[in-house]
Amino acid sequence: MIDSEKIRNDFPILQETVYGHPLTYLDNAATTQKPRCVVDRIKEGYLHRNANVHRGVHFLSQEATEAHESARERVRRFIHARSTSEIIFTRGTTESINLVASSFGELLSEGDEILTTVMEHHSNIVPWQLLEQRRGVVLKALPIRKDGTLQTEQLESLITSRTRLITLAHVSNTLATVNPVREIIRLAHAHGIPVLLDGAQSVPHFPVDVEELDADFLAFSGHKIYGPAGIGILYGKEEWLEKLPPYQGGGEMIDKVSFEKTTFNVLPYKFEAGTPDFIGSTALAAALEYIDGIGMESVAAHEQRLMDYALRRLGEIPEMRIIGGAEKRSGLISFLVGDIHPYDLGTILDKLGIAVRTGHHCAQPVMDYYGIDGTVRASFGIYNTEEDIDILVEGIDRAIRLFHH
Ligand SMILES: Cc1ncc(COP(=O)(O)O)c(C=O)c1O
Repeated sequence: MIDSEKIRNDFPILQETVYGHPLTYLDNAATTQKPRCVVDRIKEGYLHRNANVHRGVHFLSQEATEAHESARERVRRFIHARSTSEIIFTRGTTESINLVASSFGELLSEGDEILTTVMEHHSNIVPWQLLEQRRGVVLKALPIRKDGTLQTEQLESLITSRTRLITLAHVSNTLATVNPVREIIRLAHAHGIPVLLDGAQSVPHFPVDVEELDADFLAFSGHKIYGPAGIGILYGKEEWLEKLPPYQGGGEMIDKVSFEKTTFNVLPYKFEAGTPDFIGSTALAAALEYIDGIGMESVAAHEQRLMDYALRRLGEIPEMRIIGGAEKRSGLISFLVGDIHPYDLGTILDKLGIAVRTGHHCAQPVMDYYGIDGTVRASFGIYNTEEDIDILVEGIDRAIRLFHH
């Protein structure tokens, strides 16, 4: 059991009031709040340790480099990668996927196929569509079912001799479905196809071990795991990263530059052009230390309990329609209530200090599949409690009374 009271004290923002109500923050899938230790690390970095990394002989630069590189090691341990060569700092999940689309894309020719799924965030669709335009590759999507699960049994028939990569969400940000990625990776590998996992909604919520999953690539964002915005991770198996050409050109990613010939730096620097967010990396490490201190197993159990409670409580509301009903789900719930527009419901909840997300959640193909414009989404984090869910349910009840009278 996690000590919610103690955890809540680590997040000063949870003491804020919104329109005179205590803040009830249920928008963790969009971004999480930051514990004091993360903000302190940023402040301490800029106030006392600020110098560019990897370039200076001077004391501060060496200290900054050491902190940045030990952050990389922290990330490696967190996802259980074999080597820090496999950990690339990016701006977030979106850039991590774009990096693969760009560099892996260079290896592809017209008619090669990328296989994704219908439940993806736009950031795992659009980069591949851009690649379709650039290189004439073909993007295919594994369909879903009304219960919010993938039609995994269709996978084999969608794979062809031209399939070069399978890329999918580990957890859907809209349906909460935890996809059977281990089985998908096994099947893909049996066909010699690598797999990219979008871990934006998995890595913050339960233990993810890239070695155990045998994932070829994994992308996630710092800001969704209690760390700062603007930093994220691309994990890639060393043998793949060695094969891929660089993503961007500039300082840091080179070995030797001349107008005759330029050679590139070793991994992971080959993929890190320019000055990295060396303060963000250390703040991300602080977030991982913090969450590791609680334990990812405990985090998962806590959020699972909250979700079960929320499903039960929301289920008591007449006209409640929950979108996505997978058995294996992670801590978020998308829903609609009667004919109340999600935006109206979200606005009323906001006036009660309850932060939820409304809209298509950057997953318009999912909305199209269900024939809806959007949903209201409540998503949980380590500091949420059953009381937050009671407040949400009361808020929804109030909205229903307001709309029906
Ligand atoms: C499943 C999923 N993939 C990708 C993203 C994009 O993450 P970011 O905006 O941090 O790059 C998000 C969140 O917005 C997400 O939920």
